[in-house]
Amino acid sequence: MTPAISIRQVTKRFGSVQALAGIDLNVQQGEFFGLLGPNGAGKTTLISALAGLVRLDSGHIEILGCDVVADYRNARRQVGVVPQELVFDPFFSVRETLNIQCGYFGIRQSRGRDAWIDEVLENLDLTAKAKANMRSLSGGMKRRVLVAQALVHRPPVIVLDEPTAGVDVELRQTLWQFIRRLNRDGHTIVLTTHYLEEAESLCTRIAMLKAGRVVALDTTANLLQRFSAHALRLRLSQDARLPPALAQRAEIKEGVCSIPFERFDQIEPLLAELRSCGCHLDELEIGKPDLEDVFVRVMRGQQGSALS
Ligand SMILES: Nc1ncnc2c1ncn2[C@@H]1O[C@H](COP(=O)(O)OP(=O)(O)O)[C@@H](O)[C@H]1O
Ligand SMILES: [Mg+2]
Repeated sequence: MTPAISIRQVTKRFGSVQALAGIDLNVQQGEFFGLLGPNGAGKTTLISALAGLVRLDSGHIEILGCDVVADYRNARRQVGVVPQELVFDPFFSVRETLNIQCGYFGIRQSRGRDAWIDEVLENLDLTAKAKANMRSLSGGMKRRVLVAQALVHRPPVIVLDEPTAGVDVELRQTLWQFIRRLNRDGHTIVLTTHYLEEAESLCTRIAMLKAGRVVALDTTANLLQRFSAHALRLRLSQDARLPPALAQRAEIKEGVCSIPFERFDQIEPLLAELRSCGCHLDELEIGKPDLEDVFVRVMRGQQGSALS
């Protein structure tokens, strides 16, 4: 099957900054793919190149087999991009904005087009604002319109660049419900976000970028398994100290000792060991493997090879 997105040997430099330093990546059709990385890692540059807004120094990007440079018009039709920055035209209403966006893709007015726009508005809770001027909308509402704009031409590939940065819980839930549905209907989704719990619950595969390179690429499940673990998290009573054997295995941060374990039947012996040396606890919880843990380890460069 043709990949939804094929990125080959892509480089881009801005002056002295190597924003993309040789990226190779395929996203398969129907995937919910996460593109993660700290600020400045190159995520937006890569997405801009994909949307034809940044000219690469070298390499190729294809969207469903269409080269984003040589076959720009077809490539652009296949993808809807929700940009990171809030951009809007203050002179138009929400519906006018969406109609104009349709015009860019040569989609004439028709019942089908209007029905789809209505559906998008409805799913993003924008119906009541359809006639409102863009200027009058709150930041969160403007962001919803940006999402709607990316979807008007029913692109098979949808790319969202930090769509939930600074938006309220309600929009996040509405948005993810809708995007999940589009993914179930067969759309390929690529998402960048700093909310790692969002990425963990939504994305089936993740690439982590650092300084313009892919430093980790695997299924979310594999990343969690390889770089994170269940851990017993303890806060010891004052004066209490971990027995040396446990102290060796524990990671201590802000007064909380994390002792990793693999199987739940290892918890009892751990607690027995603490009890036997009179170590009193103030707090105890079981930490699950999480993507934040994975992210921190990968970015610190302790990953060995995080590429599968
Ligand atoms: N138009 C530009 N001109 C100069 N430098 C840029 C431009 N766009 C991005 N950069 C630089 O490229 C690097 C990658 O930026 P970006 O792709 O926005 O990262 P991310 O989206 O992962 O935060 C950063 O160092 C950024 O400052
Ligand atoms: Mg960015």
